Amino acid sequence: MFAVRPIPFFVVTALLALSAAYAGDLKGNAVTGKELFTTSGCPACHSVTTPDNSKLGPYLVGVVGRKAGTTKSLLGPSENLKKYGVTWDAETLNEFLADPNAKAPGTAMAGILVDPQQRADVIAYLITLKN
Ligand code: HEC
Repeated sequence: MFAVRPIPFFVVTALLALSAAYAGDLKGNAVTGKELFTTSGCPACHSVTTPDNSKLGPYLVGVVGRKAGTTKSLLGPSENLKKYGVTWDAETLNEFLADPNAKAPGTAMAGILVDPQQRADVIAYLITLKN
């Protein structure tokens, strides 16, 4: 005989962790973030499918956990972002995406997300982009 077992709590928590992440105090939704990524114009400069150097901005798969400005784009690795010197995580992305030029003066990064909830959502999406 074979009985239906309840799904263990840790599995549910792990699944939730996949689709939600925190930026500041706000919980982000990766599905909404994916839509916002497109509607905010990010794909014009960033590929999330192929690691090519033909776009103005760097390939964003694997961005969380890597050092700023180390990935080549059409413009080469970014000296302005290297100077900024952070490793990308929810916190550093939250600060940067609110006003890239204030954090990394002279950066060619033109995307800006002023709404904190939208930022949290896009960051939750970026976290899902793994190599
Ligand atoms: C007009 C082009 C352009 C648009 C639009 C744009 N970006 Fe960028 N982005 C760049 C460039 C160029 C860089 C590299 C910085 C530099 O060269 O100064 C960058 C860097 C980044 C980085 C850091 C990458 C790394 O490897 O260090 C992130 C994260 C990022 N952008 C996210 C976004 C998001 C999210 C959006 C949409 C809201 C967006 N970008 C829209 C051009 C753009």
